[in-house]
Amino acid sequence: MPDTPTKVSVVGAGTMGHGIAEVIAISGARVALTDIEQRFLDNAKEKISWSLSRMAAKSQLGEDPASILSRISFELDFAKAVKDTELVVEAVPEKLDIKKETFRKLDSLVPRGTILATNTSSLPISEIASSVSDPSRVVGLHFFNPPPVMQLIEIIRGHDTSQEVVDFAIKFADRLGKKSVLVNKDVPGFIVNRILVRMMVTTRLAVENGLATVEEVDSSLKYNAGLPMGAFELADYVGLDVVYFVENALAERGFQVTAQKMLKERVESGRLGMKTGAGFYTYTKERPRAEIPRELSNKVSASLLLSPAVNEAVWIMSNGVATRDDIDLSVKLGLGFPKGLLRMADEWGLDTVLSNLEQLKKKMGQPWFTPEPLLSKMVKEGDVGASRGKGFYD
Ligand SMILES: NC(=O)c1ccc[n+]([C@@H]2O[C@H](COP(=O)([O-])OP(=O)(O)OC[C@H]3O[C@@H](n4cnc5c(N)ncnc54)[C@H](O)[C@@H]3O)[C@@H](O)[C@H]2O)c1
Repeated sequence: MPDTPTKVSVVGAGTMGHGIAEVIAISGARVALTDIEQRFLDNAKEKISWSLSRMAAKSQLGEDPASILSRISFELDFAKAVKDTELVVEAVPEKLDIKKETFRKLDSLVPRGTILATNTSSLPISEIASSVSDPSRVVGLHFFNPPPVMQLIEIIRGHDTSQEVVDFAIKFADRLGKKSVLVNKDVPGFIVNRILVRMMVTTRLAVENGLATVEEVDSSLKYNAGLPMGAFELADYVGLDVVYFVENALAERGFQVTAQKMLKERVESGRLGMKTGAGFYTYTKERPRAEIPRELSNKVSASLLLSPAVNEAVWIMSNGVATRDDIDLSVKLGLGFPKGLLRMADEWGLDTVLSNLEQLKKKMGQPWFTPEPLLSKMVKEGDVGASRGKGFYD
């Protein structure tokens, strides 16, 4: 197995695939990008050229864009694109059957030592890996959108992924100049989407139960917690159809999700968020972004809205899925939080987080409001955070 690859193939040249190919080419490796139709490859080439010239104009490249672009081949022939490659990054649509079929084809075409990575955001790595003869070479490499800008990569260990392959993925992320976090168990939603979905479901429940309005929730998250966007604003930005799809994929695999009525109604009536001009907010040419009044920020506490996400982070940590530091890095780089969620919890006080969860549970009764045993134990032992000098951090 090479230390870092010199030739990589990227399968699927859409939103993510073209950006991933660009990042890899910038790092100095050769990339073969493939898709099912020439027009998708042409479109990808145009977008990569545009992005590289923008980066060059901002002096962000150590090389001229043309020589970076020359390392990318746009290849319609799948077999040719993956020939003699050391690493394949799959970025085809988020459909299990398409992914499995892609991996089946790869299994018969690439050399035995080639590492197979998937950029899935919600499907288990192990389910995808079940379609190849040696699942130990399959790993999750979850880039964020847009790959040239977003600094985070979640590296996911499937049930059978070998340690060598995980080590390779970590080095590869390093070589791309990205920060990686290790997701040690193949759980639905990995780190970032688990925490994000927990926050989104809680905020929808809060609105449904009359705790606050959409604007009040978003104002509190933005102006009190310092998040770059409110939960509803972010859902509109990502696309309500995408949020709904990801939540359902997680729910099918045992992650508890409720309060989807607000989402479902909008998706069914085509109000998908920013891209259709309406979602939780309305968008016009004159008002292309959601306007969230700052004066509503104290109607509901940000720590109350985020306590279930903290509880989720504690679940992730206490089940050995990821470390405290990787969880906090994930929310900072993947969700733009101004600081780590566990760090924030220490500042609010873990006793506050615990009583928030109890309050939410009493009012809205969801099983996932039940405080994680580790959280209860820390509070019981007096390790309640910054005020006592010890919480998740010292
Ligand atoms: N869009 C995001 O914000 C985002 C973020 C992180 C991860 N992801 C994940 O990345 C993957 C790709 O998502 P996307 O948003 O780039 O989708 P996309 O629809 O923009 O692109 C997918 C591309 O794959 C091509 N394709 C379809 N079948 C193919 C096949 N058999 N062989 C080769 N190419 C094929 C399509 O023509 C399309 O160009 C998904 O798994 C998604 O969950 C997406």
